[in-house]
Formats: sequence, structure tokens, C-alpha cells
Amino acid sequence: MPITVVGAGYVGLVTGACLAGIGHRVTVVDRDEGRIAGLRAGRMPIYEEGLAELVGDEVAMGRLSFATALAAAVAEAAAVFICVGTPPRPSDGHADMGQVMAAAGTIAPHLAAGTVVVVKSTVPVGTGDEVEALVRTLTTTQDVAVVSNPEFLREGVAIADFMRPDRIVVGTDDGRAAAVMAAIYRPLTERGAPLLVTDRRAAELIKYAANSFLALKITYINEIANLCEEIGADVGDVARGIGLDPRIGAQFLKAGPGFGGSCFPKDMLALMKTGQDHGVPLRSVETAVAVNDARKGEMVRKIVRAAGGSVAGRRIAVLGLTFKAGTDDMRSAASLVILPQLQKQGARITAFDPAGMAEAAPLLPGVAMAESAMAALAGADLAVVLTEWPEFAALDLAAAARAMRSPVLVDLRNLLDPEVAARAGFHYRSVGRAA
Ligand code: UGA
Repeated sequence: MPITVVGAGYVGLVTGACLAGIGHRVTVVDRDEGRIAGLRAGRMPIYEEGLAELVGDEVAMGRLSFATALAAAVAEAAAVFICVGTPPRPSDGHADMGQVMAAAGTIAPHLAAGTVVVVKSTVPVGTGDEVEALVRTLTTTQDVAVVSNPEFLREGVAIADFMRPDRIVVGTDDGRAAAVMAAIYRPLTERGAPLLVTDRRAAELIKYAANSFLALKITYINEIANLCEEIGADVGDVARGIGLDPRIGAQFLKAGPGFGGSCFPKDMLALMKTGQDHGVPLRSVETAVAVNDARKGEMVRKIVRAAGGSVAGRRIAVLGLTFKAGTDDMRSAASLVILPQLQKQGARITAFDPAGMAEAAPLLPGVAMAESAMAALAGADLAVVLTEWPEFAALDLAAAARAMRSPVLVDLRNLLDPEVAARAGFHYRSVGRAA
């Protein structure tokens, strides 16, 4: 099926490449000429495991192409996917719909009869109605359907998430549009992916409700971790014990420095605003946001305690800067709050991250970037594991302890085994367990 994807950002590129991967003929359109020229030359504007290879293969097979001109690509498409950004508005935290509405306005005059407009960007409930109203005023055909089709892609494993989804959500009450969407996703539903067709508003809400629920789980286990530290229990055992109940589930129960990333914080803020606007405040979500914000300060206090009460004049080695492993994304990373607070208390910081240092350097003034984990650790008074990169779990801990001035290790991801760390000579502290 001929499909046009508007927006060559993270979601647009992954969606475009994967739709090509399941057999469709896809054009990804972006007004950023430099970005499109780069993509044509095989340069990815973002880091995502497997994406460059998939794009290369699909371009070579003639199923994926890139363009800056929207008109022709839209006129030929059976469906146009809007995959543009919806950042929070600085003024009030509401998701900014500027790019979505601009995209809708630009494609509308070129739509052929029967083309389905698919909103994949994460948009507040009711946006589909606004997009449809705008498209109807600008289009020449009356045969228009606007569908909500939220994405559930995790950075780092986005291609696998697309190809083997837990569910595909399609929000529309237009039967013909639902049939087009079912045909687009048939290669995935044939392999067992459930397709859930709902009304448009429910589909829009599903995205926010899912992300907020996952963030609630993380916030909950982080508070249980605090309690574990006080009563002398291991939060890993508690998480396993509750996670075996299928009503709870084992995932998203890893205690850590609090959730970050480009989605959870932004989407929770937007959902909170929607709730407040409708006179239905979502108190659990509001509380989770506040608890998660406070968590960064708790982590700073934990580090200061491990340093013996003060970090003034101490050299701290920070391993990991990105908001999670497997990405170079620094958006709402815990490091952006924790490191400046430590600096303010007089710490000198040397950091290493396997993928995120180029992104991180301008955001973390005064933080020295090291060539390797070992180089960051050399001569340090204290080390902090902030992101759960597998290469930190594989470190030669005995060598690491020897390289430091004093072998103190604060593991905010529970990445290491406390006994192994102690045997290597570390004074070791983690979250939600005795050590
Ligand atoms: C998240 C969702 O998981 C995706 O389903 C969704 O599509 C995406 O947002 C989005 O809205 O686009 P992502 O932001 O890539 O994906 O990251 P996650 O893997 O969900 O992690 C989010 C944060 O929670 C990270 O800071 C991570 O370190 C933290 N986390 C996650 C924990 O602290 N503990 C856990 O057990 C899991």
C-alpha cells in the first residue's frame, strides 16, 4: 500500500522504515532539507538500534524513500501518518499541537478521496476532532477520515516493539478507515498482534493512560525501595514477589533514580492538565510526578551520605548520563538534575557514557567527559552508576577499585551484585537493599 509519513523524527523514521519492512511503499517527508539529504545518504539523525540497517535495506529494495515535497507524496497515499513532535508548551505544560495542526493543514489540500489521515503523534484527547475539522475546511474531497493510532515504541528496542507489538490501537468510528488500518497492519496481526479498534478519544487516552500507569509502577517501587532500606529488605526480592502475580506483572518494577525520557514526564504533565481542565484531577498521577521529582534530591543525599557527609572538593566519577541504557537521549535524564546539585555542593565530576556524551556535554557545563569508564574512575573519590549500560556490569571491579583514590561506589540502578562489589574492595551502596 502506498503510505506517506510526515515527520522524519524518531517516531516517523521508525514507523516509516517498519511499515516498509512489512511490505508497504513508504515515503517519509520532512521539511528539513538537511535531514532528508542526510537520510538519502544513509545518515540517521537519531540513534536507534537496527534503524540504519533497516532503512538501508528498505531503500535498496525500493520500498522506502525520502522527500521534502509533500504534495505529490500525499496525493498518491492510501494513508498519511502524522508523526511530528508534541513538546510541552513552556507556558502551561499543555502539549503543543502547533506542529500537528500545521502538518494537517499542509496535507489537507492534497488529499485524494478515501485517503486516511492517521495521527500517530501523542496528542491530547480531542485533537483528532480538531484535526478532522481543519482537514474538512481545507480539503477538496468530503471523503475524509482522521484516525488515532498511538505508538508504543520504547527507545532502544523500537523496531522490535513495532514488529511484535503487544497491541495495535486504532481509534475511529469510520468503518472504511478501520478496514484500511486493518489492511496496513495485517502482516502484524497475521502473526498474532491484537488489533483493538476503539472510538478516537479512547485511543488518544490509551496512550497517556498507558505511559502514566507504567510511570506509577516505577514510582511505587521506588517508594517501596526507600522503605526496604529502612527495614533491611531487598527491593529486588519484593519486586519479584509481587511481580509473579499476573495482575501486577514483573515489568517496570526496577527501582532506580526515577523515570525520565522524552515520554513519561511529558505525557504525565499533559494528562494532568487534561484532567484539571475537565474538572477531574488525576491525583495519583500528580503525586507520582511530585514523588519522581523529589527522587533526584534523595539520590543526591544518598551520594553525599556515601561520601561521608560532604562532597565538597571530592572527585566523583559518574558512569552513565542518558535517561536509560541503549539510547543517546538526554531528555529528562536524572543526570541533568543530580549532577548540577552535586557540583553546587562542591563536587568535581568526571563522567563517561557509551552513547550520550555528545548530547550531554552542552547540557552539563563543568562536567569533564572521560574516554572510558576506567578513565573516569581513575583517581576518583567516589563512583556513581547512573545508567544501566551493560558494559558497566561487565567492568573489572577489582581493577576499578584499585584505580580510584577511595573505592566508594553508589549504584543507583542496582546493576552490580553487592557481594561481588564488596569482594572487589568497594564500599558499595545501592537502592532499596541493605548494601
Ligand atoms: C516509554 C514507554 O515504555 C513506551 O511504551 C512508549 O511508547 C514511549 O515511552 C513513548 O511514549 O513514546 P521510553 O521512554 O523509551 O518508552 O523508555 P522506558 O524504557 O519506558 O523507560 C522510561 C523511564 O523509566 C527510564 O528513565 C527508565 O530508566 C525508567 N524505568 C523503567 C525505571 O526506572 N524502572 C523500570 O523498571 C523501568
